[in-house]
Amino acid sequence: MRTPSAPSPSSLPELTREAIAAVDASGQLSDILGLPDHLRDALWRVESANLEFQDAPGGLVVAGMGGSAIGGELALAVLGDRASRPIVVARDYALPPWITPDATVLCCSYSGDTEETLAAFEAAGVLGARRIVSTTGGALAQMARAERVPVVPLPGGFQPRAAVGYALVVALEVAALAGVGERLLYEIDVAAAHAEELVAQWGPDAPEDSAAKALARDLHGTTPQIAGAGLTAPIAYRWKTQINENAKMPCFATELPELDHNEIVGWESAGELGRFSAVFLDDCDLHPRVRQRIALTRELVAEQAAATALVQSIGSTRTDRLVSLILLGDLVSLYLAALRDVDPATIASIDRLKSSLARL
Ligand code: F6R
Repeated sequence: MRTPSAPSPSSLPELTREAIAAVDASGQLSDILGLPDHLRDALWRVESANLEFQDAPGGLVVAGMGGSAIGGELALAVLGDRASRPIVVARDYALPPWITPDATVLCCSYSGDTEETLAAFEAAGVLGARRIVSTTGGALAQMARAERVPVVPLPGGFQPRAAVGYALVVALEVAALAGVGERLLYEIDVAAAHAEELVAQWGPDAPEDSAAKALARDLHGTTPQIAGAGLTAPIAYRWKTQINENAKMPCFATELPELDHNEIVGWESAGELGRFSAVFLDDCDLHPRVRQRIALTRELVAEQAAATALVQSIGSTRTDRLVSLILLGDLVSLYLAALRDVDPATIASIDRLKSSLARL
């Protein structure tokens, strides 16, 4: 069943550079298209921070929030079974209680002023764990300097979420420096070169029926649910957060096979309750049964969905394929912002919340 009254994709305006520029005064589009350069520049920035190898039998903790935390999740997915020790993403004031002093704690905050990450930095200091900071400045850089903690300096001028290429590469490189995962220099280089080709295929100069533009049109006017599995599970979460922040839309992320054991039932009344869409992020390396589940689940929810889509990662290595889907999701979220006539940069609710908290 489909709930009527949404604009038909063909009646929506074209997603030209001019149409996007009309909402995107701060140039979020060019930050997204800069992903290949960000990946390469991040390697150089880690290199120039002169970090030493220090084996961390306790694994790697990536402490951060939002756009600064996602790099840890993505690094964990890219490494997959090449991670020899635990990698944990801590999105809170405290570190998980079982973290031991022989872990490495990477504290990531683009602004350097996120209170949860500042608290996690202090908690890691109290624990006596090795700390590394990744930031553009703020209180975190000051605290790191005062305590002689090494800093990977990030370039300023981005929205934190637009620095995802940096967040990913810094987490991967620090994982290697902690003896937690293989170093993936070659994969990162290949992914950057491939992303350049994909920018041409999916970017603003691509035809209106190119993958990112067409998908944005299909999702416009709906509440998307993005489903991933394995490598694509944290990417689904990234799509959700980008659609939330850039397009100012509710959007939810979910994971297979778990969703087949509960959420799938909720879809039975989706058509009555609103216009929901479902996007499934597939990867050639997923468990074969999960890939079969994706096809069957899509078929089932399609009866109640305003739109469904199956999106394949593209590329030879895990890094390459992950980067392909990050780029696609970022572009879809930006195109949705243009279709909705909203500025992709603004995050008024986050700003309001942070300033209310600061007054308490
Ligand atoms: C803003 C964004 C947010 C921030 C988060 C933490 O673009 O994506 O999710 O990343 O509020 O702020 P930082 O990254 O400065 O620590």
